[in-house]
Amino acid sequence: MKNILIAGGLPQDCLQLMEQHFNLFRMDQADDKDAFLAKHATEIDGVSGGAIGAELMDKLPNLTIIANFGVGYDNIDVAAAKARNIIVTNTPNRLNAAVAELTLGLMIALARRIPKNHEMVRNGHWPSVKRAPLTGQLAGAKLGILGLGRIGKAIAKRAEACDMDISYFGRTDQHNLYRYFDDLTEMANHVDWLVIIAPGGADTDKLVNADVIDALGPEGFLVNIARGSIVDEAALITALEQGKLGGAALDVFENEPHVPDTLRNLPNVVLSPHAGSATHVTRQQMGAQVVDNLIAYFDTGEPLDPVT
Ligand code: 8YV
Repeated sequence: MKNILIAGGLPQDCLQLMEQHFNLFRMDQADDKDAFLAKHATEIDGVSGGAIGAELMDKLPNLTIIANFGVGYDNIDVAAAKARNIIVTNTPNRLNAAVAELTLGLMIALARRIPKNHEMVRNGHWPSVKRAPLTGQLAGAKLGILGLGRIGKAIAKRAEACDMDISYFGRTDQHNLYRYFDDLTEMANHVDWLVIIAPGGADTDKLVNADVIDALGPEGFLVNIARGSIVDEAALITALEQGKLGGAALDVFENEPHVPDTLRNLPNVVLSPHAGSATHVTRQQMGAQVVDNLIAYFDTGEPLDPVT
């Protein structure tokens, strides 16, 4: 059996499945991680769980694969892995539906003020309010998707069912039914809703800056279901406070799990705790995908989902 270092948190069912095929070295549970590594470093063939940088890679002379739990792999130093001939795998596709579903859920919640109305009814204020306050709606509104990848397409499909008019911004024109913008600010100017579903990392760092937010405008809504790093969070908070942006639905943040007080107290936001893929079925399938990648790699030399 090959030896897998567990460097950070993984779901219990993923660990149980992994244990059936590999010896697990639970660094995540070790009090003294340095001592743990000093003892086991040469035995390790693969790593899974947590953030993996060059420093850890250099401590593991026989490491050949890092199997990431998640489709996003900005927690892994992929360039460092590549330079050391270490394969990196991720978990694409199986989370598309769950992430897209939550995106639409957050959009509907924000547009129709579901959390506010829920509080109003729950707190017994309906009799004094009498009629439900009027809100916006998704039907007929323009949606711009930042990143029309696999999850972006799953979001577009669901937004189509809500009768939204769909555009996207990305590196390439995919020549499909949706309108392509090669300029993000231009798209933000055109749409009512901007949904971020692009990878994190240096290429997208603070891509959604004050200019993009201003272009979205006082009637516009920002939805981030990708990575907090993609938005200039300070600029977002200022725009929301000053009424320069209509509202935001956020599943991800700059410094998770910490959300700035100002953001938590704003009335025009819907907040969610990085829950895009957090369904029983999806997380179970992602865990199995991590293990399948390790098995395929050690059996055949070919992982199922290499990232490069
Ligand atoms: C997970 C995610 O929350 O796959 C991703 O990129 O953001 C989520 O599915 C994350 O991978 C860690 O649990």
